[in-house]
Amino acid sequence: MRFDMKTMIVVVLMVFMLRHCNGLGLNMNYYLMSCPMAEFMIKNSVNSALRADPTLAAGLIRMHFHDCWIQGCDASVLLDSTSDNTAEKDSPANLSLRGYEVIDNAKKLVENMCPGVVSCADIVAMAARDAVIFAGGPVYDIPKGRKDGTRSKIEDTRNLPSPTFNTSELINMFKQHGFSVQEMVALSGGHTLGVARCSSFKNRLKNFDSTNDVDPSIDKQFVKTLTKTCNAGDNAEQPFDSSRNMFDNDYYNALQRQAGVLFSDQTLMTDLTTRQIVNGYAGFNQARFFFDFQQAMVKMGLLDVKETGEVRQNCHKIN
Ligand code: HEM
Repeated sequence: MRFDMKTMIVVVLMVFMLRHCNGLGLNMNYYLMSCPMAEFMIKNSVNSALRADPTLAAGLIRMHFHDCWIQGCDASVLLDSTSDNTAEKDSPANLSLRGYEVIDNAKKLVENMCPGVVSCADIVAMAARDAVIFAGGPVYDIPKGRKDGTRSKIEDTRNLPSPTFNTSELINMFKQHGFSVQEMVALSGGHTLGVARCSSFKNRLKNFDSTNDVDPSIDKQFVKTLTKTCNAGDNAEQPFDSSRNMFDNDYYNALQRQAGVLFSDQTLMTDLTTRQIVNGYAGFNQARFFFDFQQAMVKMGLLDVKETGEVRQNCHKIN
């Protein structure tokens, strides 16, 4: 069978479209024509911020999660409060979000190069992906083309998961967003990076909470570690695992040792299904975790994305 040139071009284009498009209007090469250097500039800018402060990788990944979970991935989390609206970022659940300046710096660079083209939502998504890679996690690509939202309300953040959630509450909440149990456990692995403050787990400890009972699911030695952290106050930080800046599967190893920091972490060992998934990611199974995590992150990055709308000039306010 012989193909003429025209057929060949159509076939190549179709293969390209299938590989790079997801049917949502987003695609891997969204800025190829409109701002070809955007992705490269953003990566450079994020990487240099992370070289200066590696702890920000955790902040950027969490920011992407909190953005996508509320109103979809539309950078609603970046909008500032105004005189007549309290925005998501001022909710107690978001007060410890970090890395806003990393997004601002990247945005400045791309705005100088191609004004009004690259959305804040895409920058948040790319920064999270670059943070995973910087910290030693899986290398993956994400579709681009998200538009920025115009709504950001503090009351919407009640839909963020609570650290006091048990397994069935976590499973239900993730299911509402279209995620399987396995995807929920894989995404919880985001806690391989970063810290929680005492206020997020003190209810599990004696003398720090009105119930006065220690959560029986915590290892006895680890109770001492958490208690020592909390002795330094509500804002004292406890790393989720032994390598807070390294993206690895140590979070799951910690759960196996009953050394999960949040109740919502350790609860994954109480239910048979989630326990089996944790065991499937721990120990020598890091590659499986990496694979499932990157797939779930790509999926999370597509939550309720807006294909039409605005590209903010300044990520802090609507145009
Ligand atoms: C499964 C439900 C989840 C709950 C209940 C939860 C809750 C929390 C809490 C309470 C903190 C500590 C906040 C503080 O004390 O300041 C935290 C930190 C963090 N979370 Fe989650 N989270 C969940 C899922 C996720 C997901 C899906 C990701 C990303 C894929 C993620 C990424 C992070 C990161 C990286 C940090 C550390 C942030 C830093 O060091 O600045 N979390 N999370």
